[in-house]
Amino acid sequence: MDKKLMIGNWKMNMNENDSYLFFDEIKKDHKNYVHECVIIPPSPLVISIAKYLKKNNINNFVKIGLQNFYSKDNGAFTGETSIKMFDDNTLSYLLVGHSERRTIFNESNEFTIEKALYALKNSKAKIVFIFGETLEQRKKENLENIMKGFLENLVNKITFEDLERFVFAYEPIWSIGTGKIPTVKETEEIFSIIKKILTNRFPGKDVNDSKLIYGGSVNEENYKNFLNSDLIDGLLIGGVSLKPHKFISILKNE
Ligand code: PGA
Repeated sequence: MDKKLMIGNWKMNMNENDSYLFFDEIKKDHKNYVHECVIIPPSPLVISIAKYLKKNNINNFVKIGLQNFYSKDNGAFTGETSIKMFDDNTLSYLLVGHSERRTIFNESNEFTIEKALYALKNSKAKIVFIFGETLEQRKKENLENIMKGFLENLVNKITFEDLERFVFAYEPIWSIGTGKIPTVKETEEIFSIIKKILTNRFPGKDVNDSKLIYGGSVNEENYKNFLNSDLIDGLLIGGVSLKPHKFISILKNE
């Protein structure tokens, strides 16, 4: 089994003490992990967790990042988080475009792209660009057009070299936290569309190294279905990433 990227998105869960208990479990057996471990905690916990990982010598095995940030260095933006508040070594991954940001906080695709481009210029972190359709969209519209709607304006603004900074995370909205998952074939169909969008943007270039991951109701029982596909480079995991033993069994590919 190839090493794949496992990103745990804690959302607005966990406090400082819970997070230390979680990483105490994670560190016990990290030598047996098959997959890469990334945890995205709530932003107020990021600095204390970074210190904890370093103190426990597991900062090479566990990478962390932000769930959200604003596309400015600093200023009068009450309630917002700037990536400049963290040193470059702390943030390995930056999430942008999670459907909870898009729907609950009304963040448009345009704004999401603005944040992704800001992160591209102002950090060294990988940018996890998240997108996915609602059930209504899936029933009514052509999937290729839906994916173009999310991605074309972004990829038109980046270079081929920038591609290695991106992780494209397909998370169908109908699957997040619902227990419903697309078949691997359906996911592969989407990933082929994404590759086509990238190939059209970068004709003659090999886009096969670009990272594509799946998210939505992944658990310790269904994750292997996805990992068996060569097109799927990793998983974005919400609920199950709060349960250390379940997340660890995924990291170990048990
Ligand atoms: P879930 O969440 O695994 O709980 O469905 C995934 C996500 O929203 O990132």
